[in-house]
Amino acid sequence: MKDTYILAIETSCDETSMAIIKNGNICVAGTVLSQMDTHAEFGGVIPEIASRMHTENITMVLEDTLNKAEMEMSDMDAIAVTFAPGLTGSLLVGLECAKVLSFVYNKPLITVNHIAGHIYACNLISELKFPLLALVVSGGHTEMIIMEADYKFKVIGATLDDALGETFDKVARVINLPYPGGPNVEKFAKEGKPAYNLPISMKNDLFNFSYSGLKSSIINLVNKEKAAGNEINPYDLAHSFQNVAIEQLTRKVENALKEYQLKNMIVAGGVSANNYLREEIKKVTDKYNVDLIIPPIEYCTDNAAMIGCAAFPLLKTSTFAALDANVSSIDRLF
Ligand code: KG4
Ligand code: ZN
Repeated sequence: MKDTYILAIETSCDETSMAIIKNGNICVAGTVLSQMDTHAEFGGVIPEIASRMHTENITMVLEDTLNKAEMEMSDMDAIAVTFAPGLTGSLLVGLECAKVLSFVYNKPLITVNHIAGHIYACNLISELKFPLLALVVSGGHTEMIIMEADYKFKVIGATLDDALGETFDKVARVINLPYPGGPNVEKFAKEGKPAYNLPISMKNDLFNFSYSGLKSSIINLVNKEKAAGNEINPYDLAHSFQNVAIEQLTRKVENALKEYQLKNMIVAGGVSANNYLREEIKKVTDKYNVDLIIPPIEYCTDNAAMIGCAAFPLLKTSTFAALDANVSSIDRLF
């Protein structure tokens, strides 16, 4: 069979990224231009600045990606782009770029859901075997999804309030760690001890999550200690938080592995870059003899390679988008 090449574009938040994906599972070349340093000055992503920077950088990222791959637009079989969920202005820059390339070079346009991208990034490591359990943990999502086949997503559990990544970021702020919070909380947690007693939420619920109670109890604890004139140990608090936050995850994953007969478990999204999470989930999947796939860190956080992987099943079924396709604020997978 002829090799297929997809040029993929991802601009849903603060990374301008493009990649060329061969046959759905090989990253020929990729570029991720992060705006993190700019947004760090403000303590979080500023949407207006993000979309302006995408506009400034996107043609450079395209040139760089094609040069690295030593390929031309005429070598591509399709153009794939994230259309949801994300920051509307940021998504629009990527989508408009994809439409122009699709029109000018006469290539089919494939619109991809960002969360599907995180899931399909695992194909870069090992081909997904169904049925599988996907744990999606990012800045906006905390979900467990059963997949029986390509693009058959059944959400069996989700957070009732805050997402896990968002909670990492908020806890980082409370203990004065700089943006991005998640990786910094992980660094501090490594140096700390489980000195603080924090609650584990949703003990009696099978598959759903909740993180707002944990967040509030940390804010209350810090305020109480401050009022009493006591110092908080940020290393110990980061450690104690990470322990209970991940324990809630592993508990729900274990419930799902007991309930469903699965061939694979995958962990996707920015928080899957967390090493403690990776180790703890591995213990559970080993116990139930399920093959665990977690992409290497560079493919856990936002990147275009994952969008190219998720576009491949859509290319095979000729699921193409029209040139009047729009971005979407709908947060569902499909
Ligand atoms: O998937 P992602 O890059 O963007 C979204 O689609 O949301 O995820 C970003 C989230 C942020 O909340 C960030 O703090 C978190 O992932 N994150 C981490 C780590 N690396 C990124 N959280 C905990 N530990 C990490 N090492
Ligand atoms: Zn993401």
